[in-house]
This record gives sequence, C-alpha cells and structure tokens, in this order.
Amino acid sequence: MPQTVSPTATLPADNVRITATGVELVLPDGRPAYFNACWLRDNCATSFDRETRERTFDIFHLAQEPHPQSARIAGDMLEIEWAGEAHVSRYPLAWLAGYAQGARRADPADLPRRAWYADHYAGLARFRHADLIADPGAVAQWLRAVIVEGVAIVTDMPDSDAGLTDLVRLMGHVRPTFFGEYFDVTTHIAPTNLAYTAKALELHTDTPAEDMAPGVQFLHCRSNSVSGGDNLFLDGVAVANDLRAQYPDDFRLLAETAVPFYCEHDTYDVRSRQRVIELDDHGEVSGVTISQHMADVFDLPQHQLDAYYPAFCRFGRMLQDDKYVMRFRLGAGECIVFDNHRIVHGRAAYSATSGERYLRGCYADRGEMRSTYRALVGEGRFK
Ligand SMILES: [Fe+2]
Repeated sequence: MPQTVSPTATLPADNVRITATGVELVLPDGRPAYFNACWLRDNCATSFDRETRERTFDIFHLAQEPHPQSARIAGDMLEIEWAGEAHVSRYPLAWLAGYAQGARRADPADLPRRAWYADHYAGLARFRHADLIADPGAVAQWLRAVIVEGVAIVTDMPDSDAGLTDLVRLMGHVRPTFFGEYFDVTTHIAPTNLAYTAKALELHTDTPAEDMAPGVQFLHCRSNSVSGGDNLFLDGVAVANDLRAQYPDDFRLLAETAVPFYCEHDTYDVRSRQRVIELDDHGEVSGVTISQHMADVFDLPQHQLDAYYPAFCRFGRMLQDDKYVMRFRLGAGECIVFDNHRIVHGRAAYSATSGERYLRGCYADRGEMRSTYRALVGEGRFK
C-alpha cells in the first residue's frame, strides 16, 4: 500500500521520517513529500556513470529490498544510510522536488504546437542550407520550427543527392521505408503510385500502411519548370482542433477508432491499422493519418460505419477547405521538411510535357529529431 504523506506537524524536528516503504520529508518550499525507498536507492547519483551517462546500478542485484537505516537533511541535501549495505546516498532537495508530485521529467522537445492556416506561406520558417551546415544554433531553430509548426523550408540547396543526405544527417539518419531509402518524384513509364504520374495527387500523409509511418519527410525540389503542379500543404492539427470544437462526437470517433490501410503490388503487401486523428500524452492533437489511395476496405461492423463514415467524410471535406490549404510552388533549390504525421500534402495536376519536374525525397525519424534538438539546446542529466 502506498504511504500517505503526513502533515508537516507530525514530522519530527528535522522534518524527515522513515516509513515502512520510504521516506517522508518537508521540501524547502514547505511542501510535504514522500519518496519510495526503491526509487531512492535506484536513483542515487552513484547509479549513473558520468562517462557513459548510463545507469550502472542494477537494483535486481540487491539481496533484499532497500531500506533506510537513517535519513537526515544536511544543508540542501537528503542523506540516507542504507541498511545491510555500506552505502550512503545524497540527494539535492531541489532535485527531489522535481519528482515529488509524479510529474514527468521536463522535456525541452515537448513544445506546444502552433496551428497554422492557408495564409502561412509568408510566415513559413526558412533556413539556408549552408547556414544549417555551419551553425548548430541554426539547426536548433530549424528543428524547433518543425516541432512547433510541423514544417519548414530549407533554401539554397545544392543540386545534388548529397545535399539532401547532408541535410537529413543534421537531424538524424535517413529512415528507409518499404520502397527504399530515397524516392524520386517524377513521371514514370509504369507507375506504381499516383505520385509518379502527372495527375493531381489528393491530400494525404505518406505510407500509413506501415506499422510506424515515417516521421519527418524531406522533399528536395531539383527542378520545376512545368505548368501546374502547385504544392498543397495543410496543418492537420489546425483542422482536427476545429473538428474537436465543432463536432466533438466525430472527433472522438476518429481519434479512437483504428481503420485499415494497405499498400500492395507484385512483391509487397503492407498493412496496418491507424487512427485518423492522433493524440499525444497530453490529449492534444499531435497529428493525422489520411490517405485515400492507401485506405483499405473499412472492416468495422457495418452499424459502426453508420457513425464512422459521416465523421470521416466531414473531416475529409474540412481538410480540403480553403481556410486550411496553403498553395505554393516549391522552387528548384528548395527542400520542404515536414512532420509526416501532422502535415497533409498533395499536388495539383501538371503538364508533363511543359518542362521538368523532379523532387527527390526521403524520411527521418521524429524521435531522432527530438533527440538532436534536446542535445543542441543543452538540456540533459549531466549538463
Ligand atoms: Fe506524399
């Protein structure tokens, strides 16, 4: 049974008391707090190796559950002598205070998202390729923009395959999908995907048929002299937040119901189930999954579809509303970088005979992006 925290008045004069399962104390700000003995022993500062930064203490190797022999406050530290082992632990009270309420460890990459609308093009975060290569501070700003707004444009890209790879490596690694590490969007002779034709490409997120669809997408425009082919981008978070406000029952259905997606051809048959609206650990919308060309036959009970289809179609129509869709032309030398779980994208039809249109694309992982951002902004256990 967890111990309840005793009122300050019942604690002894030095404000520390050992209980059957842990230690009660009063924090410097006057708040009473309780800490579990296993947690305290496991998280002694000596449990972590400063060179590798890994936990080197293994609580599984203790012969018995740790129990304090003595506990006292010495200055701004809690000091514990452990029963049955020659070990003393010292914990800064300020550090303990951060874990007193069961709140999650602060995460600099857990930034609030800023929703955007059709008029966002002028305000799009832009970074020069050479500046990113030269300046880790610029990389941090770039990653922050992708985390907060879901999209940024990198300009002045070298007209080379290496230019794209070098950009991705500032964030993480190229993350392969079932069609390989890179893809080239141009017109193909025998296309296996609408992207490889000159036809309009409806609004979608990429490859939801995969268990874990790729996190960050890069589209490097190497040439674009055709007539038509405007890029269409929208913020799925903005649309889903509006759906939540206006049609909460529809929102709930799309956020809670997994539906099937597929991608199938001669040598592959990829399948997964996804929720059209994705929520984060705070219950906020973190993204959307939408792809009419990869949506499988919805195999839900037919009466459930009576409610699901109207919600799905309402959301699909909202996605196409001029309020949300940012229309522009990606120019040669630009690379648009965006969160593939948040930003919905498409393309107007173009005339394949009117000029050249070539985009080279690839993906990176969102977790790796957040990792790089945290490292760049100087947060961390040992800094
Ligand atoms: Fe796409």
